[in-house]
Amino acid sequence: MNASTDSRDKGAPSWAGTPLVRVVLSQAIGAAVALGAAFAGTAATGIAVPLFAVLVAMGVVAAWIGTKLRLARWWIPVQMALPPAAALVSLVAIPAWLYLTAFVLLGLVYWNSARNRVPLYLTNRATWEAIAKLIPDGPGRRFLDIGHGIGGVLFFLSHRRPDAELTGIESAPLLFIISRLRARLKKAGNIDFRYGDFWKLDLSGYDVVYAFLSTAPMAALFEKAQREMKPGALFISNSFAVPGTAPTDTVMVNDRRKTKLYVWRIPHSS
Ligand SMILES: C[S@@+](CC[C@H](N)C(=O)[O-])C[C@H]1O[C@@H](n2cnc3c(N)ncnc32)[C@H](O)[C@@H]1O
Repeated sequence: MNASTDSRDKGAPSWAGTPLVRVVLSQAIGAAVALGAAFAGTAATGIAVPLFAVLVAMGVVAAWIGTKLRLARWWIPVQMALPPAAALVSLVAIPAWLYLTAFVLLGLVYWNSARNRVPLYLTNRATWEAIAKLIPDGPGRRFLDIGHGIGGVLFFLSHRRPDAELTGIESAPLLFIISRLRARLKKAGNIDFRYGDFWKLDLSGYDVVYAFLSTAPMAALFEKAQREMKPGALFISNSFAVPGTAPTDTVMVNDRRKTKLYVWRIPHSS
């Protein structure tokens, strides 16, 4: 789940940028080293190095460079497999428009993965139930899902808490459009789906703010929540703690992945 943002990333040199940039960089170095060595070997011995050996060498060098750039360990097999896999795929006659369509669709869904390091995965039903129990009783409670994905949490709450005002904000275009279409089909009247960046949204009007993101934004997001949310309001994070800040409460969800909901109550200023 949080593999893309594990602790190894913290020590990465700042110039190395996001994991994606580091992968591209290590593959480029791997290609330069392996091709250079193959050309030099052929020039010196007159024996051509088999292409497959060059591709394997590219992957091995890239994986090694990746560890030096402090990429998470799971990138090692991925980086090793990448050059041979790319060569194999290029042998299969797949029409170019299919690549383009897949690329555009993935881009519209995983809009934030490379930049904000927040991929798409969805809150499960058991966790929806646990979240519903955390919303204070009484009509007109304002609940916000930051990064609403395809709206699952909000659609569930629209049935469970029809008396609540539900808002979602999402910056991946396709996910936003899907949520809007689902709202029309389900006739969910109490959900306001907004397209945009949650960093630009003022959190002061909400009684409960829910986040299921990644480890990467948590420290800055918690600072924003503390700055903007009103005293007594709840900030809930699914699975991702805030470094160095103990939650007010932790809800253990009885699901297969043993989900933890970290809950902070915004304190009253003294
Ligand atoms: C892990 S998914 C959670 C989806 C949904 N909240 C759920 O629990 O089922 C995180 C979502 O946050 C969105 N996201 C990431 N950064 C964002 C940003 N700065 N503004 C708005 N949405 C963002 C992603 O596109 C993704 O859909």
